[in-house]
Amino acid sequence: MVKLVAFAGSTRKESFNQAIIEVAVAGAIEAGAEVQLINLADYPMPMFNQDEEAAGGIPEHAQRFKELLIEADGFLIASPEYNSSYPALLKNAIDWASRQAGDEKVLAAYRGKVAGIMAASEGALGGMRVLVTLRMLLENIGTMVLPNQKAIARVHTLLDDNGNVADEKTIKQLKLLGKQTAELAAKVTAS
Ligand SMILES: Cc1cc2nc3c(=O)[nH]c(=O)nc-3n(C[C@H](O)[C@H](O)[C@H](O)COP(=O)(O)O)c2cc1C
Repeated sequence: MVKLVAFAGSTRKESFNQAIIEVAVAGAIEAGAEVQLINLADYPMPMFNQDEEAAGGIPEHAQRFKELLIEADGFLIASPEYNSSYPALLKNAIDWASRQAGDEKVLAAYRGKVAGIMAASEGALGGMRVLVTLRMLLENIGTMVLPNQKAIARVHTLLDDNGNVADEKTIKQLKLLGKQTAELAAKVTAS
């Protein structure tokens, strides 16, 4: 069974990106994937500093996060757009997990993996610009990013009172992205 790890680049309590990742996860599970949805709040990491890494190695939570990625066939990532790019929280986690330790292969967390990426914003572009930078980042470290991606604009108008995505069209699109990610990860893993 194909294994995916899913996370949002926001730890905000009422995060829109947490809301959309849950729908994509449901789509991947319906397609037969085993998905572990994590919250980066449970993996607090210091801001990367190479001197501290040299002195103390990779911190515990960063190593745990990296091991999850290493064990996965692919990822679902929902990212807020901060000033047209990805938030430091997300980049910092990706950076820590890119660091080699012990007998791990170079970029073991990323190479040969597949990612489905999405964004949500109250704005009219839905965070479309962060997807450009996130795609470039992931591709450069060896992760194949699905051509399909979703930027959910005016996301606050698409939620119910509990903060869950309620708009049928949006649910369909996000589930499809989750399904396609699971299917591509299965093909890549089999090849
Ligand atoms: C520093 C900062 C920069 C932001 N820049 C953008 C931006 O470039 N485009 C955009 O659509 N929203 C921008 N926003 C608004 C975020 O999209 C909004 O805070 C969103 O709710 C964050 O995602 P979350 O709900 O998952 O936490 C910015 C927010 C912050 C805090």
